[in-house]
Amino acid sequence: MKKEAQISYEHFKNSSELSDVEKKLFDRAKQARENAYAPYSNFLVGCSVLLENGEIYSGNNQENAAYPSGLCAERTTLFWVAANFPDVKVKKIFIVGGPKESDEKNPPIPPCGACRQSLIEYETKQNENIDLYFSSMNDEVVKVHSIKDLLPFYFDATFL
Ligand code: THU
Repeated sequence: MKKEAQISYEHFKNSSELSDVEKKLFDRAKQARENAYAPYSNFLVGCSVLLENGEIYSGNNQENAAYPSGLCAERTTLFWVAANFPDVKVKKIFIVGGPKESDEKNPPIPPCGACRQSLIEYETKQNENIDLYFSSMNDEVVKVHSIKDLLPFYFDATFL
């Protein structure tokens, strides 16, 4: 029997359509992107995280001469937040990425598959959805209301 899965997302033509806190997260992710260590790909990604207590933390991708030893911006940020504030819920995550010399044609950059798997772990752990935004330097933004919209057939601890 053929079945269909549906996901939903919002599309913002530019950041003027965002709320104040969303704009702040976008700015923090852009600032973090500037400090990305990506000498091998020249693809810079920044990420900001809003916690339930209103604090914002940010991070970026960290590459390595032994390529697989590097880590994406989302996991660099998320792991640091989880390591330091294990009991504080994550409300929103904002990602902005693109080539170092980004031009206005770059589309919003969605998180890679491995990051989606890490994100679903924390959303499941806190038993509350995380709003995730992804963007690029062209100011266009996509929002999903839950990581599950990025990973409909997700694997989590319930299968173990
Ligand atoms: N990258 C991220 O930081 N996040 C993603 O979701 C996609 C890819 C990084 C990894 C690597 O440093 C560079 O972008 C090129 O793949």
